[in-house]
Amino acid sequence: MAEDLDIPYGASKEEIYKALLPQLQALTEGEPDLIANMANITSVLREAFGFFWVGFYRVEGDRLVLGPFQGPPACTRIIYGRGVCGTAWKDGRTLIVPDVDKFPGHIACSSLSRSEVVVPVRNNGLVTAVLDVDSDRLDHFDEIDAFYLEKICTLIR
Ligand code: SME
Repeated sequence: MAEDLDIPYGASKEEIYKALLPQLQALTEGEPDLIANMANITSVLREAFGFFWVGFYRVEGDRLVLGPFQGPPACTRIIYGRGVCGTAWKDGRTLIVPDVDKFPGHIACSSLSRSEVVVPVRNNGLVTAVLDVDSDRLDHFDEIDAFYLEKICTLIR
């Protein structure tokens, strides 16, 4: 497909996610390379929403290792159960953090990050990566983000 995105800027967040889903599906289907697909997903999310930071961490043994991302440089390794990412991996569920300063053990890759959502990526039931989205605004993420980001994470195989 052509890689031009059709983003309904000015529409509601939910409408934007709905418009992105089929485009992300078209971008990723038929492409077996995990890194290529993660890279395009982070690019599309950043283009559409201008998130401060959006990226994947991949499970490598007992830790997460930084994968494709958009935004400022970030921590490269996160131990199982540490920070928001390591906790989402351990608990196997999406975590919405309205104020990162109130999350015990939050790992501050950037002092500008104020709120965060982390979604596990599953393969055959096992968490193989997480998608982390950071905002420089407090309380940026809600159940709508969680719902659609979880759908987007099913495109990763
Ligand atoms: N804040 C995350 C670390 C990753 S960066 O935000 C990109 C955490 O606490 O796991």
